[in-house]
Amino acid sequence: MAADRAQIMQHLRAAGIPLVSRPVMDFLVAHPDPVSMIKEMKSSGMNGLAITVDSLTRNPGRVIAPIAAPEPEQISMRNNMPDWKREDFPMDAIDAMIDIKVHYDITGNSITEGKMGDINDAFNDRLERLRKLIIANSNLPRRPMDIARLQAEKSRFQGRENIAVAIGLVNDPRHTKNGHLMFNIEDASGEISCLLMNRKGDDRIIEHAQIVEAGLMPDDVIGVSGTFSQNGDMFYVDDLHFPMQSSHDKKFAEQGVSVAFLSDIHVGSKTFLEAQWHKMIQWFNTDPLARTIKYLVLSGDCVDGVGIYPGQDKELSIKDLYGQYSRFAELLELLPEWVECIMLPGNHDAVRPAEPQPTLEPDIQQDFNTTTFVGNPCDFSLDGVRLLSYHGKSIDDFVAGLRTVTYRDPVEAMRQMLRRRHLAPQWGGKTPLSPEPEDGLVIREVPDIFVTGHVHGHACIDFRGTTLVCSSTWQDQTSYQRMLGFQPKPCMLTVVNLGTHKSISIPFA
Ligand SMILES: [Fe+2]
Ligand SMILES: [Fe+2]
Repeated sequence: MAADRAQIMQHLRAAGIPLVSRPVMDFLVAHPDPVSMIKEMKSSGMNGLAITVDSLTRNPGRVIAPIAAPEPEQISMRNNMPDWKREDFPMDAIDAMIDIKVHYDITGNSITEGKMGDINDAFNDRLERLRKLIIANSNLPRRPMDIARLQAEKSRFQGRENIAVAIGLVNDPRHTKNGHLMFNIEDASGEISCLLMNRKGDDRIIEHAQIVEAGLMPDDVIGVSGTFSQNGDMFYVDDLHFPMQSSHDKKFAEQGVSVAFLSDIHVGSKTFLEAQWHKMIQWFNTDPLARTIKYLVLSGDCVDGVGIYPGQDKELSIKDLYGQYSRFAELLELLPEWVECIMLPGNHDAVRPAEPQPTLEPDIQQDFNTTTFVGNPCDFSLDGVRLLSYHGKSIDDFVAGLRTVTYRDPVEAMRQMLRRRHLAPQWGGKTPLSPEPEDGLVIREVPDIFVTGHVHGHACIDFRGTTLVCSSTWQDQTSYQRMLGFQPKPCMLTVVNLGTHKSISIPFA
């Protein structure tokens, strides 16, 4: 329901945006969900009067992010190049065999017809897989029960000692006026209303406070333990249970070659940084560290595409989609012959937008040599080290859905994905999903390296035993990003050694 001006003003002020232009105010008044729009304005860091209706209505697939100067990368340099030790990157790629094993890829396996039954099957599959992981990985205080049975026996589960446990899908997560977190939990048998209190002082439990602060995503699968209220209408949550295990033991490859990561090259766009590409090619052909790089993972948006957003035509240097792919193939051809590329699609590529996305068509693939084409996401191993590569479109949903995730820190979205063992939980958000009978976005195995792109940032950090790589773009700030004050971090090549898991980032900007 549309809100009135006073309510919208209140929400804007609470979001730290005291002033907006009249057209933006009119737009919010007419919008069916102004609160979410304001949340998005807040998380994007846009400055009140700089916001235009156009910036709010433009293609949601484009990146909206905060005004920020690029943060200096912490790289120790020697002779103008990042410093590295031979023992951390021990083996030259030219001596190594290619060892790529794909564990999950939707390509050729998509069987959905998009019917209601398929959607139910996809959710049941998600619930079943994640239920097993929650039972295996989190310390449930007792066996979970079906929600219908819990409700039928709710008088047994009242008072501090009589804990009940349920596992289900999150519906309608929201914060109350007092900052508590309310949501419903649903399984095939029924649904209950849950409340996680925002406790203060000595009663405060840090993990709870963090979840209350962040919120939950619609369609998350979690476990709850707690007790019913006196009248049985509300389930008071004592603890939440996620499917992630506390830590992961990385696998180390026997042959110590390296893998490098890039995404969002956006060839065909006028803002593609061609000179910097050639600088990287020169480095690849001359630097001893480059000689260790056996694999280059390209996590989507390698071309800018055609017709992706209104007015894109004016920003293209190559207006033909096939021409963009052919040009990219030529640019990859300049890499040394020991480098094997692994390429997946993103939301700018010529495949269906619904995830999981199959790989590019054979008539596009034929232009490329030494490239393995996979879908998005793809779960695969390189020399026995497990990688999960996902373009990262759902980061847009995590930014909109969780208060702690921002475009400034996209790896927080990756941590949240691992915690949920799911890449894109929200149905009906910004990420189109294909309802496959097996939910292809469940993180079946914890990866040793988890890589995304899409947000044109850059990071490489460890999280509970998994290396998280937010791979850098090769596109300069676009006019749209400039309007929003978004500063990308382009032209960083992330290199991780598969034998030692040491990483280094090489700047070419
Ligand atoms: Fe992109
Ligand atoms: Fe993208």
